[in-house]
Amino acid sequence: MSARIDDLLSRMTWAEKIGQLSIVFRPDPDDAAALVRKGLGSTFWPPSADATNALQRVAVEQTRLGIPLLVGLDVIHGQRTIAPIPLSQAAAFDPELVRALAHLAATEARSGGVTWTFSPMADVSRDPRWGRVSEGFGEDPWLTSLLVAAMVRGYQGDDLSAPDAIAATAKHFVGYGAGEGGRDYNGADLSERALRAVHLPPFEAAVRAGVASVMAAFTSVSGIPMHAHRHLLTEVLKQEWGFDGVIVGDAEGVANLVPHGVAEDLADAVRQAYAAGLDVEMGGSPLSLDAAEIAPGRLDPARVDDAVRRVLATKEALGLFENPYVDPTAEITTPDAASRTLVRAAAARGSVLLHNDGSLPLAAPRRLLLTGPYATSTDHLGAWVQYFGARAGSVADELRDRRPDLDILVEEGVDFLSPTDAGIAAAVRAAREVAVAVVLVGEPSALSGEAASRSDLRLPGRQEELIRAVAATGTPTVVVLVTGRPLVVAGWIDEVAAAVVVWHGGTEAPAAIVDLLLGDAEPSGRLPMSFPRSVGQIPIPYAHENTGRPASTGGTLTAEHHDVGLHGPGNVQDKYSSKYLDLPLGPQFSFGHGSGYARFSHGAPEVSASVFPAEGPDDETVTTVSIEVTNLADRRGDEVVQVYLRDVVASVTQPVRRLVGFARRTLDAGESATVSIALPREVFALWAEGWRVESGAFELHVGSTLATTQAIAVEAR
Ligand code: GLC
Repeated sequence: MSARIDDLLSRMTWAEKIGQLSIVFRPDPDDAAALVRKGLGSTFWPPSADATNALQRVAVEQTRLGIPLLVGLDVIHGQRTIAPIPLSQAAAFDPELVRALAHLAATEARSGGVTWTFSPMADVSRDPRWGRVSEGFGEDPWLTSLLVAAMVRGYQGDDLSAPDAIAATAKHFVGYGAGEGGRDYNGADLSERALRAVHLPPFEAAVRAGVASVMAAFTSVSGIPMHAHRHLLTEVLKQEWGFDGVIVGDAEGVANLVPHGVAEDLADAVRQAYAAGLDVEMGGSPLSLDAAEIAPGRLDPARVDDAVRRVLATKEALGLFENPYVDPTAEITTPDAASRTLVRAAAARGSVLLHNDGSLPLAAPRRLLLTGPYATSTDHLGAWVQYFGARAGSVADELRDRRPDLDILVEEGVDFLSPTDAGIAAAVRAAREVAVAVVLVGEPSALSGEAASRSDLRLPGRQEELIRAVAATGTPTVVVLVTGRPLVVAGWIDEVAAAVVVWHGGTEAPAAIVDLLLGDAEPSGRLPMSFPRSVGQIPIPYAHENTGRPASTGGTLTAEHHDVGLHGPGNVQDKYSSKYLDLPLGPQFSFGHGSGYARFSHGAPEVSASVFPAEGPDDETVTTVSIEVTNLADRRGDEVVQVYLRDVVASVTQPVRRLVGFARRTLDAGESATVSIALPREVFALWAEGWRVESGAFELHVGSTLATTQAIAVEAR
């Protein structure tokens, strides 16, 4: 710690110390100034550089010690230029893109005086009923870890005091994505193994990347609410991993310990939270300023000093003591051409082609139909966008502007939620008049994000009926799916010529969607989260265990089986295996699924070493997978080569597959290239009361999707 912090700490009164340990969200300006005069150390962004400077001036010039404010905000996927949601960014399988988008957001946010964002969300989730999957990087801990670290680097850069850097927050520590029933704020009973192998790795990756803060989750882990979870907050995060930043509570998360039923009252909740290792409490009012119960002796003074040091060190790293103000004339308030280009390219890169009979890209139709609520809706920004984020236009307007030569019919057909199918007949009539029908459907942003769990993952309202009615005309039908989560598409996917999921793609989503439709860009993403056939399948992670009775055939609850009275396959072996009687095996579309508009062939995979020592440095490359890839198409395209690991025999059950490496490559028409993916020892490790690489056989499965891999054997000795 710096001499400045030691000096400040030695001069601070108890009240001044406690004031540094609160952040208040959405205070109105007068209240905020009064609270700052009373010693409040952090607040949410008053939405402009001028207003931030005014509040900062109160802290620096009107308080005894003049300690500058931390100014926080949820900059989740963009500040002014809104990027695609993080789940779309994950689908791009491109850490550099994630870094660049976070850097753009940091540059815009810092210019307005924001110095602390509550992002990235590092929660792994296998449950698309949970609306917050939109804010995360999907179901895989390894991919999530990689992208969380990239986002932290994008926000923080190499120097937090730089004008394009803000302090990042890995959230929500930990296990928030595993909530029972996919219901938000619900607890999870997680074993140490589930924590260590699935939920903790992305947070450890964030700490290794130097994340400035970590936010505690609303939820409980095996009966202990995270805001009072000393083992995970202090013993794991701070002591085992050496995290020296700030642990901030989630909004009213400390107060929620009372309804959790583990705290008698607010004062008890505050005492428990700080004792567990929380440093800054986030609430609508600064509990720690007013609660008289937080008097000396009710909180451990050494714990309070430790928390204050962490907060002051963050302010010092941000350069706030030397430079607390921002230049209002340099505030970025609108996107520029470069930021629009970046987020537009990102929206295409994260889009995933679920299925395509060749109808995409559109083959220069003279006349086409745009139908569905997203033909005209401008609701493309997704969850967690502030009112000052740059709005998107509509696909219909974008296409008309881009191609005034086309005869474009537009019939909304149905809206997002209403139960009426009034417009379907008009859409059907129009579909009979055109060469191709594009049905743009999905879930509005309001159904995505926090407090937006859904029990039915089909398209809301009568959108499915619209798709089926338009497809039934026989006109080639292409579906564009705008969503913040995987959806159940079983009701229509087999009736359409093509389907592409574009997620909530941000400010430039309509332009990106038109780029995809016209072939000016390709949907080159891969699914970061499986699409279930039915909500009844959830959780349906690709990295599931084999069980002792793996199924080789799906459910067969069909008439003929009923007739023979076997209630399922005559083959006993198939009957007594792990599956649903009423569903085929596996998800509708698995993690890693997707393709661009080109087609690729793969040679046989090779490894630089088929045997490697089990013991050695975690980060040592133990083998490198190489595979020749050829673009067979007549257009440039991106291939995402994926490498999955199977641990053939281990001391504890292992996933049937888990992602351990990937490489995205752009190849021109006819071009071949050898793609190499280095594998460090740590990707072969498993958790069994500690991380270790066990000797024995492994298989590497290499391909463009999970379903199209080639296996190659390697061995750890
Ligand atoms: C919310 C969210 C959290 C966010 C915080 C501040 O409830 O859980 O992700 O950062 O409050 O807005």
